[in-house]
Amino acid sequence: MKAGADLTIDRLLAELRALAAISEAEPPVVTRVVFAEADLRARAYVKGLCADAGLSVREDAIGNTFARWLGSEPELAPVGTGSHIDAIPNAGSYDGTVGVLGALEAIRVLQKLGFKPRRSIELVIFTAEEPTRFGIGCLGSRMMAGVLSAEQAQALLDKEGRGLDEWRGIAGFAGSLQSVRLGAGYFHQFIELHIEQGPLLESEGIDLGLVTHIAAPASLRIRIEGEGGHAGAKLMPGRRDALAAAAELILALESAAKSSGAIDTVGTVGVCQVFPGAVNSIPSRVRLETDIRDIDEMRRDGVIKALRKACEEISARRGVEVAAQQVNADPPAACDAAILAALEASAKAAGRSYKRMVSRAYHDSLFVARLAPTAMLFIPCRGGVSHRPDEYATPEWMGSGVNVLARTLATLAA
Ligand code: GLV
Ligand code: MN
Ligand code: MN
Repeated sequence: MKAGADLTIDRLLAELRALAAISEAEPPVVTRVVFAEADLRARAYVKGLCADAGLSVREDAIGNTFARWLGSEPELAPVGTGSHIDAIPNAGSYDGTVGVLGALEAIRVLQKLGFKPRRSIELVIFTAEEPTRFGIGCLGSRMMAGVLSAEQAQALLDKEGRGLDEWRGIAGFAGSLQSVRLGAGYFHQFIELHIEQGPLLESEGIDLGLVTHIAAPASLRIRIEGEGGHAGAKLMPGRRDALAAAAELILALESAAKSSGAIDTVGTVGVCQVFPGAVNSIPSRVRLETDIRDIDEMRRDGVIKALRKACEEISARRGVEVAAQQVNADPPAACDAAILAALEASAKAAGRSYKRMVSRAYHDSLFVARLAPTAMLFIPCRGGVSHRPDEYATPEWMGSGVNVLARTLATLAA
């Protein structure tokens, strides 16, 4: 696979550009909320590329897409690879997409080299890795692993109160949600290629990250009910301002995350909806969505406990109702030693530098790891920037990721 990645990088770049142009926002901003029109067009584009590469494509009841390169022993469990193509509002063009189009490129490089896999190689495009529409991340892989049941999924609502079934209908996915769950032996092994979304590889001048662990994410939705009224006429002493209470809660989360004793603890409030949202009206209701993570689950849970305590304290002191609902609190995942060894051998053979590292972002691999031996391969991204339109990975970084992914898929599928 001497110069395979270099030979084909232009095609990958062109496809990444074409995919990025399928967006709900003006380029270079990428927004592709799951099941919105742009997401559906992006799916169609990628499925077309998979079909052109001779892969057979199927979709499950929630839109997880499986594109299979049939091995010479098709009855064997496939080696899986893939990621997501949905994107949060105001995102860039590399998060998830490098793991989908990069894996497709790896497959095409192997095809061009005349490699014949013994095990099938299956490219998976997971539905809704991003929590944008339903407030919960990794929807497709979570259901695949049986972590979210069909009943729990059926109860999910978006901000307008529209349910998963309504959206599935719009997107053209039917069938029983029970069938999304895969058996533990479905994949033989699984690898996800992804941008690091942090600064370490670039700043240390290292080509590749071999991910050993994926951090434990959690999310709580908090609803604060106070009392509205006239912003001019209602005096300060009698107020029960829901937004002022929310402001204290946001700072309480920040403080709990900062004082955990570890740099690995992070806490964010990324959504704050204020009702009624008029400049001359005291906010009566606020809805917050919080994101709390750590590579250490117990330490993460300590922050959740501190946040819940702050909810009680602020509620009592300010006379507002505060209700916190846990959306998810997932354990971390450990990557598979044998796949990491195969990735390491491939990196050495390709002459690429690498280091072992943890993933602070979550990925579909967090859930696939419950089904099959799984590992992740990171490439650098400029400035560690992600979830922003200026997210960027150089062609060289992507080329080395595709090269090492292709070599490793070949090893695992041989
Ligand atoms: C995934 O997008 C994450 O938020 O880690
Ligand atoms: Mn993301
Ligand atoms: Mn991602």
